[in-house]
Amino acid sequence: MRILVTGSNGQVGSSLVECLNSLKANSQEAIEFLALDRNELDITNQVAVIQVVESFKPDFIINAAAHTAVDRAEEEVELSYAINRDGPKFLAEAANALGTVMLHISTDYVFPGNKEGVYTERDKTGPLSVYGQSKLAGEQAVIDANSKHIILRTAWVFSEHGNNFVKTMLRVGAAHKKLNVVADQFGGPTYAGDIADALITMVMSINRVAQNHKFGVFHFAGYPHVSWCEFAKVIFELADQTNLIQTPMINGIAADMYPTSAKRPENSKLSCDKINAIFGITASDWKAALNNIELYKS
Ligand SMILES: NC(=O)c1ccc[n+]([C@@H]2O[C@H](COP(=O)([O-])OP(=O)(O)OC[C@H]3O[C@@H](n4cnc5c(N)ncnc54)[C@H](OP(=O)(O)O)[C@@H]3O)[C@@H](O)[C@H]2O)c1
Repeated sequence: MRILVTGSNGQVGSSLVECLNSLKANSQEAIEFLALDRNELDITNQVAVIQVVESFKPDFIINAAAHTAVDRAEEEVELSYAINRDGPKFLAEAANALGTVMLHISTDYVFPGNKEGVYTERDKTGPLSVYGQSKLAGEQAVIDANSKHIILRTAWVFSEHGNNFVKTMLRVGAAHKKLNVVADQFGGPTYAGDIADALITMVMSINRVAQNHKFGVFHFAGYPHVSWCEFAKVIFELADQTNLIQTPMINGIAADMYPTSAKRPENSKLSCDKINAIFGITASDWKAALNNIELYKS
């Protein structure tokens, strides 16, 4: 089984590399993978994408590359669409030419956030930001280019690698006695390592069944759902237990009081029922993951 990973230096990309290294060492199956970062493969370069795909001949492509700077995307519209729509399209087309399965990661920010309750894969999208719009366009481009696709929508990603809310909270929390954190946006924090595991589980399952597998859009995110403010409180509880930093006072505020360039959905809770029914994958237990990651051990 041959797997190509793009965007290998990001949060999910780095976790995929760890996951695939361990799978390669422990699996009976012959697994070859090629993980390329932005310098090694710029997914917006169609010629380079075709060259890599034609020479490596993967059975699966996992695209973890994206323009994820949600606020900056409001200014960098062309770049966002190039990375979040055109790159995935080039990968999916190159994959399609070889009969390769394309796994692509998308986001909860494709939803408008005004629904009561959790979002399922059947719910109507309606992104509020350029980031969300460009990611939704990327989903459609992949779907149009390659019928053998998995679109995995996830949310509020954190990990040891790269930039994320957990690291930001620990950094600003160490410097301030009191922090204001948004308390009226709700979602599911998701550990990048769990996203990588979910993607690899899907790859293994599709590889086993091969024909007539259920492709399509799937949600995978963390549970229990919380507000950013509740998430911050758990982050600091753990930091306090490990004496990493002294817990600042957390003050919940309305999103209106913390204006950002990009509008974010109030509710981006994703239902994981479909991925559970088809692949047996359960929601990311983010509290357990947070408890275990190296951030708190340093
Ligand atoms: N982060 C979140 O909270 C979140 C939430 C929901 C969904 N997602 C989705 O989850 C996926 C993974 O996100 P993540 O958190 O791992 O993002 P990340 O840490 O920002 O990683 C994205 C990676 O893509 C690379 N990249 C950017 N442009 C590229 C290009 N033209 N060619 C190749 N690589 C390129 C980046 O490289 P450089 O660092 O060198 O630019 C970076 O290493 C994305 O599809 C994202 O939309 C993320």
